[in-house]
Amino acid sequence: MRVLIHIDEADTWRDALAERLPAAEIVTSEALAHQRRDIDYLAAWKPPEALLRELPDLKGIINLGAGVDALLNNPGLPKDVPIVKLRDAGMAELIGDYVRYGVLHFQRDFDRYRRQQSSKEWREHAVDDKADWPVGVLGLGAIGAKVAGMLVADGFPVHGWSRSPKQFDGITCHHGDNGLSELLDQVRTLVLLLPGTPETRHIIDSETLAALPEGASLINPGRGTLIDEAALLEALGKGETEGRLRGALLDAFAEEPLPRDNPLWAHPRVWVTPHMAGPTPLKEAVGQVAELIEAFEAGETLETVDPSAGY
Ligand code: GLV
Repeated sequence: MRVLIHIDEADTWRDALAERLPAAEIVTSEALAHQRRDIDYLAAWKPPEALLRELPDLKGIINLGAGVDALLNNPGLPKDVPIVKLRDAGMAELIGDYVRYGVLHFQRDFDRYRRQQSSKEWREHAVDDKADWPVGVLGLGAIGAKVAGMLVADGFPVHGWSRSPKQFDGITCHHGDNGLSELLDQVRTLVLLLPGTPETRHIIDSETLAALPEGASLINPGRGTLIDEAALLEALGKGETEGRLRGALLDAFAEEPLPRDNPLWAHPRVWVTPHMAGPTPLKEAVGQVAELIEAFEAGETLETVDPSAGY
């Protein structure tokens, strides 16, 4: 059996997977450039189109990340090859920490204190109680649900939203279009953890932004395509003049790397991070990749990605 790995630092992944699947031959895409051969399984993060086109005998693809949008949008993706994703391999907790940092950033006024520091202004703001700081989480998949639970454990009232109805202890769950308006109306920080699909594209536009309370903040560790950037900039206001939105912590962008001339880089109320919120932890992920390949080989029925749903 031959397994091809395509991801940054593929050699480390190859060695770890080789240890876990000693009978298999594990190759990296770099090595494959020199010795093309039949491959049974591809474990990859954002494989190039040409690579996907070179693998006619694939029995399965394992997506080495949470979102499958990049893979599904790849024109080289072979039809009819089952795709599986990792279960939460520890990314959800990493993303949860990122979101907690962001929520506390706004709830404890770190944005204001940063501005005050630039003018050496010593002024304390009264603390808004966590109980008075409802957080909205759009997307209640494996990651969204875990992140929402972490915020509940921290003491924030949490509203979650998904397209179809869901239920989780301690989370006020909303669904569908009406549910979205209900949620937007009452949250002080909005967190985006939806998959990037044609349906979720620009779900954050001028209309949804206008539905948020004045002074709300936005955290996006999900996908850049969820946000209409022009509408976001408008809601953030220009220069020192605050708009309806108090600030945004953004980790995902429609175009990555974020182009140098994108105004978000220099916006005084925007914090840009380079898609670092939820890297795939190698150790747990490699264990899951091995288990998935064993399950494929044993002919077990696996939970596969539904390309028409986009996740
Ligand atoms: C990262 O963005 C992922 O989908 O895992």
